[in-house]
Amino acid sequence: MRSPAARFLVLLLGLSVLAGANAAPPKKTAAKPSSAAKSAAPEAETAPTAAHAPAVEENKGKDINGVCAACHGEFGQGGKRGEYPRLAGQRAAYLKDQLKSFRARKRINIPMYPYTQERELPDEDIEAVSDYLAAIQLPTKWPEFKDSDDALTRLEAMEKVMIVPRAEGDIENGKGIYQKECFSCHARDGRGRGKFPMLVGQYTSYLKKQVDSYLKGERPHDEDGPKGILNTLQEKDIQDILAYLTSIQDSEKQ
Ligand code: HEC
Ligand code: HEC
Repeated sequence: MRSPAARFLVLLLGLSVLAGANAAPPKKTAAKPSSAAKSAAPEAETAPTAAHAPAVEENKGKDINGVCAACHGEFGQGGKRGEYPRLAGQRAAYLKDQLKSFRARKRINIPMYPYTQERELPDEDIEAVSDYLAAIQLPTKWPEFKDSDDALTRLEAMEKVMIVPRAEGDIENGKGIYQKECFSCHARDGRGRGKFPMLVGQYTSYLKKQVDSYLKGERPHDEDGPKGILNTLQEKDIQDILAYLTSIQDSEKQ
């Protein structure tokens, strides 16, 4: 296929011949389409940072998150129904681990590749943004307001509420397997511990996609060998665990 630049030139030359005018110098015209192509890059790079401009001095983690927010949301709530996972409230140690493995390309994440390069995301930025995101709490209940709360306060509080829709499945079966096979790392309440990730409050579609990539061997779970706990489960069991996880979002932290 011809490049837009080439098509543009042909068109321009054709027009100038028709008009009987001198053709414009080709070099000059060729420059235009290429700069247009550049500006078609994701707006992600500039827009959110600008929105956060006043906070730049105050909080480094918040500032860095301006870039992440384009995909993962302003509060780290994720987006597009789990195409972009929730990061808010995730274990800080886990976030740091994953960012480092994206950077080292041990875990492949093409959309995030440009943001995790050494120059874009040095270790101290990984620390700052991970600590910032881990500290964000997203309530699972609709807030109750006082008469004195203004519209903006109300809107912000409501935007932060995150409830993952109930996933279909046999919750009792899921509970039985989870509390036997998964709790030792992901904790009884599913909120993770140490560097083991929180699973509760994460989008079901995202978790499912991760399980699939563990099963295909594209991402290592926590096993030394190629097969692990997830490989011993039936597809239905995995769905039941995911259903169970969506049923315990409100439970108090244990
Ligand atoms: C262009 C979109 C995009 C941007 C910008 C982006 N991410 Fe992501 N991120 C993704 C996608 C897509 C995934 C899920 C990859 C997958 O499905 O395995 C992801 C996954 C992650 C994960 C793994 C979550 C988990 O539960 O394992 C972390 C951590 C993360 N991103 C942090 C960040 C941080 C911090 C920034 C900003 C420095 C950022 N991302 C910027 C698209 C983006
Ligand atoms: C021995 C500890 C251990 C056990 C037991 C365990 N996991 Fe994990 N799990 C991990 C670790 C470590 C990770 C992060 C792996 C990585 O770095 O990619 C993880 C990641 C995950 C993720 C991806 C989370 C994300 O945000 O991307 C899912 C989903 C998951 N585990 C499901 C399960 C299920 C379901 C069970 C029980 C059947 C289970 N795990 C049992 C250690 C464990």
